[in-house]
Amino acid sequence: MSVIDLLHKRISVRAFLDKPVTEQTVRDLLDTARWSPSGGNVQPWKVIVVSGAARDAVIQEAAVALQRNPQGEAGEYPIYPSGLQEPYRSRRAQMGEDMYALMGISREDKAARMQALQRNFQFFGAPVGVFMVIDRAMGHGQWAHMGMFMQSFALAAEEQGLATCMQEAWAMVRDTLHAHFQLPAEEMVYCGIALGYADPEAAVNGLRTARAPVEAFAEFRGF
Ligand SMILES: Cc1cc2nc3c(=O)[nH]c(=O)nc-3n(C[C@H](O)[C@H](O)[C@H](O)COP(=O)(O)O)c2cc1C
Repeated sequence: MSVIDLLHKRISVRAFLDKPVTEQTVRDLLDTARWSPSGGNVQPWKVIVVSGAARDAVIQEAAVALQRNPQGEAGEYPIYPSGLQEPYRSRRAQMGEDMYALMGISREDKAARMQALQRNFQFFGAPVGVFMVIDRAMGHGQWAHMGMFMQSFALAAEEQGLATCMQEAWAMVRDTLHAHFQLPAEEMVYCGIALGYADPEAAVNGLRTARAPVEAFAEFRGF
């Protein structure tokens, strides 16, 4: 499939089949994603891949941490900037509304929304979880480069018939993950990626998010 086709095909999948993904498959995806560009070829990414018992252990620890602190750990920075302005605010709200509507969860049903959020911490049933780890010394640029790696990984997975969901939600248990993986002080978990085979029956996987048209974000000069 062409890169353009893959870009159009990739979506965030939030329900996975109970079908394993081999270590070799993940290694191959990482082997592709490592060719992502990064400023100065710094390659600021590190990853921790969990499956089987290691995956279950993370899920278990996250559950305990969230039971203790349902709002999540304080974190080093908010997942979204506080007071998100337009047009970003409406886009985020729309995506949430559409997702919960597909899941049959009403705006008022806070408990069901909370339950749906909790599925993040089970990788939405995916057999593999990938944690993106970055050195705290890295700046804005290197964080962006990490994103390039993640998109490459997602597209490579898509080509193999696999599906992904990137998961910043894991930042809610960042301290717990740091301790769990015994990371050195200078490293931190940025984001998770759920990886597996999409459940074609799950309504939530029918979500197709919109994008602003080119005119809304691009300025052309000198043509
Ligand atoms: C870095 C990153 C982190 C994300 N974190 C989450 C998350 O924690 N939970 C979730 O359900 N979706 C998460 N998403 C998925 C976004 O909601 C999704 O990409 C967006 O709504 C666009 O939809 P699409 O991926 O289906 O095109 C994340 C996406 C990115 C790029």
